[in-house]
This record gives sequence, structure tokens and C-alpha cells, in this order.
Amino acid sequence: MLRTFLPIVLAAGEGRRMKSVLPKMLHKIGGLPLICHVVRTIKSAGAEKIAVVVGSRAEAVTTAVKECAANTLIFHQKEQRGTAHAVLAARAALQNSADDILIAFGDTPLLAEKVLLKIQKVLADGADIVVTGFRINQPAGYGRLIEEKGRIIAIVEEKDASIDEKKITFCNGGLMAIKKHYLLSLLNAIRPNNSRREYYLTDIVKIATQRGLYVKALEVPMVNAVGINNCAELANAEIIWQRDKRQTMMLAGVVLQAPESVFFSYDTEIAADVVIEPHVFFGPGVKIAAGTTIRAFSHIEGASIGANAEIGPYARLRPDVDVHSNVKIGNFCEIKKAMIGSGTKINHLTYIGNTEIGTHVNIGAGTITCNYDGYNKQQTKIGDGAFIGSNTSLVAPISIGNHSYIASGSVITKNVLDDELAFGRARQVNKPGQTRVLHKKTTKNKVTL
Ligand code: UD1
Ligand code: CA
Repeated sequence: MLRTFLPIVLAAGEGRRMKSVLPKMLHKIGGLPLICHVVRTIKSAGAEKIAVVVGSRAEAVTTAVKECAANTLIFHQKEQRGTAHAVLAARAALQNSADDILIAFGDTPLLAEKVLLKIQKVLADGADIVVTGFRINQPAGYGRLIEEKGRIIAIVEEKDASIDEKKITFCNGGLMAIKKHYLLSLLNAIRPNNSRREYYLTDIVKIATQRGLYVKALEVPMVNAVGINNCAELANAEIIWQRDKRQTMMLAGVVLQAPESVFFSYDTEIAADVVIEPHVFFGPGVKIAAGTTIRAFSHIEGASIGANAEIGPYARLRPDVDVHSNVKIGNFCEIKKAMIGSGTKINHLTYIGNTEIGTHVNIGAGTITCNYDGYNKQQTKIGDGAFIGSNTSLVAPISIGNHSYIASGSVITKNVLDDELAFGRARQVNKPGQTRVLHKKTTKNKVTL
């Protein structure tokens, strides 16, 4: 029978090395907080319940955790006295009926589901403790796995390592699993005998080995084990994550003309046969249907885009945008909180906000929906087949009827009905020969400084 496991995620540390007012756990990769990457992956590996230990800036971290997994069990570590001390803060969770305890760190966000499944298998095959090890050319900062006769006998932290131990490139990935009935007694045996006076979870390996337990190291790919302690490591993890996401997208049929210049979020959904030109950024909440082209230098977040649309170059779609099929949104257009009906064209230099646009509408260059009156956001509605001439201001709240026509340069403040033609600008006056009179007058009165 398959063994059951309870994961405990440690997320109480201060994250001082980030030098940031934002808790480390809330820094993002692919638009998702680090802690949420960990919780989501563990959830997808089949964990029914997850325990998370919070401490430093607990409230904000708890909110983020609950957003990605509502039924998480939260435990508080009041003082941050080390990773073993943090696990003990979740002592009450050990009453759970699970066979094994999996311990993960909130700051190692690239852990993979397949690694979690392998760890479970190693325990099922007879190991009492599994630690994950990975090889990295520059191991500074990581605990080193000490091997003897093919077995792991201890983990030594960088700060306490000898010169020879520092040369070891086989590092502790942080992820660890233990048969539950050994855990409490091992944790209770850990003493803060190290340079930081902390209770190190890593000391469990030496104690277990001395007790004759079978500790096994499972080597995992470096890309799944990198930890984040500072902003440089955060950027490095983002590079790894983006590379992986691009690969997944391309293998699913998305055409990326310059993959290294396209940035995705954790929840970006793009259908096969979408073409993405160079230098495009996708924030969270984007969904794109087949046949659409996203042209270069576009910035898109919180938008759903239908089939066969053409967006950009240089388009900005902000949250709550619903673009239907065959729509064109061209250069230097900003769209926010708007529904754009199929076949509509918004090709140049336009701002559309708090607006509902029908089908086959033409929005001329330089059209602005004036949606903010200084106090509230106001709504604009534009009917099917309407033609909005260039350089029009639509002062919301306003409604423009089906098949209506707005003359260029208009400032529209009154509703326009179906099939109406509206002019909202000063009438042009031409005065024949008047330039000569004007010229004479101005040269006569000219003052030379
Ligand atoms: C830790 C490991 C190291 C490993 C590395 C992998 C220990 C002692 N060291 O080092 O061997 O190579 O991770 O990335 O375990 N935390 C708490 N409460 C505490 C202290 C830490 O919850 O009192 C949490 C942190 O929020 C973090 C995790 O535990 O998510 C690891 O702590 P951190 O201080 O980052 O450990 P490292 O120095 O990276
Ligand atoms: Ca760390």
C-alpha cells in the first residue's frame, strides 16, 4: 500500500539577506510568491493537508498561503531559532495519521512534483530518512552532504565547515522526508552547538546515523533545488523558471520568435498556434486563444484574448480586459477594464478604460475614454458597428449607439443614439485672404529685443 505523508513547509525565517521590507516568502517568481510555488507543487503531488510554519511577518505570509491553499494548517514559530526549532513549532501536526513527514523550505520554490514522488518511493523502499542533494559548481551558502562509504553520515553547514568540507559540491537541497515515528525523538536530540546557536534540522542526519537508522541521499537536478536567500538568487531562480515555462509553451505549440525575451506568469494560458513576437511580458491572469498574434513589445496582464486577434506592437492590456476574436489592438494603445467585441479595431494611440465596445467598431487614432472625473470611474458603452473618428474624447458616463458616427476631434459629452452622426467640436471658419492682413499687422507691431 502507498505510504501517506504530511508536508511541513518552513516559512518563518526573517529573510534578512533579501534586504527588503517585503517578507522573503512574498517575493515572486513568475508572478507568484515563493511560498505559493512550494505549496502548489506539494498539493499537486497529492498532499491532502499541508502544514506551514510562519513567524516573521506572519500575517502577510499566512494570507498568501491561504490564497493558494485555503485548508492549510498554520503554525507559529515565535522566535526564529533554526530549522529544527521551526519543525517543532508544528509538533501538533504530528498527531496526524500520516506515515511520513516531508519537510520543505518556503525559499526553495522550484521543487518538482516528480522529486516529491521519488522521495516517497525511497522511503517505501526502506530508507528511514531521505535528504535531497544536488551538485552545484559554486556551493557557497549551502549545507554540504558528508559521505562515507557511499552513505550520507552528516550535513555540515557552510559556516561550520572545514576548508576541505567547503570544497564539497554535493549540497543539501533542503527537502527532506522522515518516517514519522522517528521524528520527535530525533528533533529533541538536536542541540544548538554551532556558530549561529541555532537548532539545525540538518543535524538530524548525524544523530540518525549514530542511532543506526538508514539515511539516504536522493540526488535531484540543481534546477529543482536552488534556494533563495538574496535578490541575486531570486533573479537566478526566475531565469530557470522562465526557461522551463518557455520550453513547456513551445512544446505545446506556441510559437516564440525570440524565447529568451518573452516572460510568462505562473498561470499564463496560451493555445497552440499563437505567435508571440520578441519582447513580450505576460503578468498574471492571461489567457489567449488559437491563431492570435502578440506583436513585439507588448505588456499584457489580467486579459483574456480570443482567437485570431492581433495585439501590438507596443500594446498595453491591463487587468479585466476581455478581447473577443478577430480584434486588432495596435501600437501605443492602453486598454483597462473593458470588453472589446469581435472584429473591432483599435489601431493607434488610444486609451480605453471602463468600457464595453460592441462588434466591428472602428476606434480612430487618439481616441480617449475620459473615464475618471476626479472622484469616480465612469462607464462608456459603444454599440456595434460604430465609427469613432480620430482624436475623439468620450466623456464618461456616455453611451454611443449602434452604427453611429462620431466626427474626428469631437469631445462627446451627450449620449449618441443608434445611426446618429455626432459633431462635438467648434465649427471651422475660413477667411479668404486674411493671412496677408494678419502678416501686415504683426510685422508693423513687431518689437525687436
Ligand atoms: C538551509 C539548510 C542548508 C541547505 C539550504 C538549502 C539548515 C540549517 N540549513 O540553509 O543545509 O543547503 O537551506 O536551501 O537547515 N526557517 C524557519 N525558522 C527558522 C529558520 C528558518 O522557518 O528559525 C525557514 C526559512 O524561512 C526558510 C528555511 O527555513 O524557508 C531555510 O532557512 P534559511 O535560513 O534560509 O536556511 P539556509 O541558510 O538557506
Ligand atoms: Ca535558504
